[in-house]
Amino acid sequence: MFIPISQPSITQKEIDYVTDAVKSTWISSLGKYIDRFEAEFAQFCDTRFAVCVSNGTVAIQLSLAAHGIKQGDEVIVPNLSFIATANAVLHCGATPVFADIDPFHYCMDPDSVEKLITPKTKAIMPVHLYGHPAPMDKLLELANKYGLWVIEDAAEAHGATVHGKRVGSWGHCATFSFYGNKNLTTGEGGMITTDDEDFYNKCKYLRDHAMSKEKRYWHTEPGFNFRMTNLQAALGCAQLERVDEIMAKRQLIFQWYQKHLGSIEGISINRTSAWASNAYWLICLENQDWDLIKRDQFMIELKKRGVDSRPFFYPMSDMPYFSEEVYTPHTHEIYQKGINLPTYFDLTEEQVGFVCTVVKSLLNA
Ligand SMILES: Cc1ncc(COP(=O)(O)O)c(C=O)c1O
Repeated sequence: MFIPISQPSITQKEIDYVTDAVKSTWISSLGKYIDRFEAEFAQFCDTRFAVCVSNGTVAIQLSLAAHGIKQGDEVIVPNLSFIATANAVLHCGATPVFADIDPFHYCMDPDSVEKLITPKTKAIMPVHLYGHPAPMDKLLELANKYGLWVIEDAAEAHGATVHGKRVGSWGHCATFSFYGNKNLTTGEGGMITTDDEDFYNKCKYLRDHAMSKEKRYWHTEPGFNFRMTNLQAALGCAQLERVDEIMAKRQLIFQWYQKHLGSIEGISINRTSAWASNAYWLICLENQDWDLIKRDQFMIELKKRGVDSRPFFYPMSDMPYFSEEVYTPHTHEIYQKGINLPTYFDLTEEQVGFVCTVVKSLLNA
């Protein structure tokens, strides 16, 4: 038995919808599934609009560009995230500024953010990490106080809520990823959600080379080709129809892990704030005893016994192309102590039991 970290859930519905899209000959970025996926995803997030794009990274880049963020501007991001969060800022010519996380839920800490605000700051980009939402109410308060945009990076948290309100509907806009390991997938793919009609139109315009609506092949600025295909959108429509069962299964998987690993000293798995609901993108196992060497050795031993895992992200500011040294105490401590365990729709209770037995035997617990 080998249990992967992640695996998409593809049923006959996905196959039927994609087949229908292929047979329709609408295989590029026009077609009925595009409009439907956007409309239904907006409804899912409780926003007025959604714009689908080719992946979650360019969803961030396009949002930043549509806000006019450019060279000389600063965007505050949490230091613990997938590198796409910071890279998208760089690709707009702007500078990512790294805030620390709250060690309880691993998302951006508003107190850390406030200390980093300068006259150059244009936006705050909270990330809903591993499925737990960032404290959006506090971050919005800050943003309002300083007149900043809030762009949610919701790549990992489809369906999570803050005070009962879905992620994707808190910021001025939000971005999602539909990569194959995400809670909802289109293979590759991304989405921007927003309530702002002008911003929505700007995103659609820039997504398609900034072509004038009145005059075809007339371009008033250098736009992008960030379009999604109708085939990907067909897959997305099928996944979205199944979203309730997909979300419910992830809650169940968390409960199974919690039952086996929840009461071992020095070990913890995902904590959820009282004000949040967690989308459980990935089970997070944190061990107070680990440093980088012990953690990496643990993952090797897991793999030998048939269990895949992955390390927490490195602090983004540690990447060699960021020359300035940044120290964010919580991020720099926690990343060494955490791994992700298998989390996907088709996991059975027996398989989770097997993973936990292996984990416990390696921990001597
Ligand atoms: C937090 C975060 N932001 C952005 C992305 C980028 O998404 P994509 O891989 O679809 O470009 C990811 C995805 O992997 C992510 O985890």
